[in-house]
Amino acid sequence: MILVVGGAGYIGSHMCKLLREAGEPHVVFDNLEQGHAEALLGSPLFEGDLRTPEDLERVFREHSIDTVMHFAAYIAVGESVAAPGRYYRNNVFGVLNLLEAMVHAGVKRLIFSSTAAIFGNPQYLPIDEEHPKAPTSPYGDSKWAVERMLAAFETAHGLRSVCLRYFNAAGADPDGLLGEDHHPETHLIPAVLLAALGKAPAVRIFGTDYDTPDGTCIRDYIHIMDLAQAHLAAVRWLREGGPSECFNLGNGTGYSVREVIRTVERVVGRPVPQEEAPRRSGDPARLIASSAKAERLLGWRPRYPDLETIVAHAWNWRRAHPNGYSG
Ligand SMILES: NC(=O)c1ccc[n+]([C@@H]2O[C@H](COP(=O)([O-])OP(=O)(O)OC[C@H]3O[C@@H](n4cnc5c(N)ncnc54)[C@H](O)[C@@H]3O)[C@@H](O)[C@H]2O)c1
Repeated sequence: MILVVGGAGYIGSHMCKLLREAGEPHVVFDNLEQGHAEALLGSPLFEGDLRTPEDLERVFREHSIDTVMHFAAYIAVGESVAAPGRYYRNNVFGVLNLLEAMVHAGVKRLIFSSTAAIFGNPQYLPIDEEHPKAPTSPYGDSKWAVERMLAAFETAHGLRSVCLRYFNAAGADPDGLLGEDHHPETHLIPAVLLAALGKAPAVRIFGTDYDTPDGTCIRDYIHIMDLAQAHLAAVRWLREGGPSECFNLGNGTGYSVREVIRTVERVVGRPVPQEEAPRRSGDPARLIASSAKAERLLGWRPRYPDLETIVAHAWNWRRAHPNGYSG
C-alpha cells in the first residue's frame, strides 16, 4: 500500500485519482491545512501532521505501507523568505520525522516532490540533473536539504528514493473533477483564470524588463497528470530494484508570462485585466527543463505538452468551481 503524504493538495489529489484508476491501494496522510477533503473523491484519509511524530507512527502501525509518496510542504517562495523557520520546520524537519518513521516501520521506498527552485539562477539551459544547485530561497533550500538527507538515509538504512524535480506544475484533471485551488494563489495560470472570472482585480506581471523577447519571465509548464504518471513510473522503478535517482520534469518548452495570459484569453474568450509590477527578487528570466533522463530511464514522456490544452483543462475546472472547492 502507498502512503500519499499531502494527498489532499493540488498535485497529491491528482496523484490519488491516478492511483485509483491504476488499482493501487493507498492511504492519504494530510493535516488539511492547505488541502481539500473534497478533492479526495473516495481515497481514504488519515488526518495527521508531519511535525507530530506520534501521528506518523500511528499511520505506519495501522496500515501495511510499502512505499511513500511525499507531497506535503509549504510551497510559496516569497513567504519562505519572510518566514524561513516555518518552511524549514515543515519541509525539512517534517521530512526527517517521516524518514525516521519509515526506518522504524521498515519502509524503504520513497518518491519525493522536489523542485526546479533547487537550481537557483540557471547557468545553462535546458537545466539537466547535473546543473549546479544554488537555491535562492529558503523554499528551494529546504528541498535541496531533503535531497541530501535522503542520500544519508540510503547509506545508513538502505532507504531508496526517487526525487522528482518539477518545473511549473499546471493544468487540471482532464475529466474536470479536480483542479488547482491554493490560498493565496501564487501560480500564474490559476491567477490569470481568477482575474478572467473577475475574482481578482487583475493579474500582476512581475517584471517586464527581463532579457526575453517580450520582457517577461519564461517558465516550463508541465501538466499535472503528466507529473502523476511520472510518479507511477518512479514507483515501478523502485519496485523493480532500480537505484535511487533524481529526475527533472518539464516540457522542455518555455512560455513567457505574456504568452500564458494570451493563451488564457484565447481559451476563455475574453480579455484579462493586467497590471505591471516590479520584478520579484530571485526570479530568473528563464527556467526550462531537460527531461531527457526521465524519458531514457523511466520511459516517461508528457502526454499533454501543449499549453493550450493545459490551460483548457485548468479553465474547465475553474469555471465550474469559481470559488474553488469550498464554493
Ligand atoms: N505546484 C508546483 O508548481 C510545484 C512545483 C515544484 C514542486 N512542488 C512540490 O510539490 C508538492 C505538492 O505541491 P502542491 O502544489 O500540491 O501543494 P499543496 O499546498 O496544494 O499541497 C500540499 C499538501 O500537503 C499538506 N501538508 C502540508 N504540510 C503538512 C504537514 N505538516 N502535515 C500534513 N500535511 C501537510 C497540505 O494540507 C496540502 O494538502 C510540494 O512539496 C511542492 O513543494 C510543487
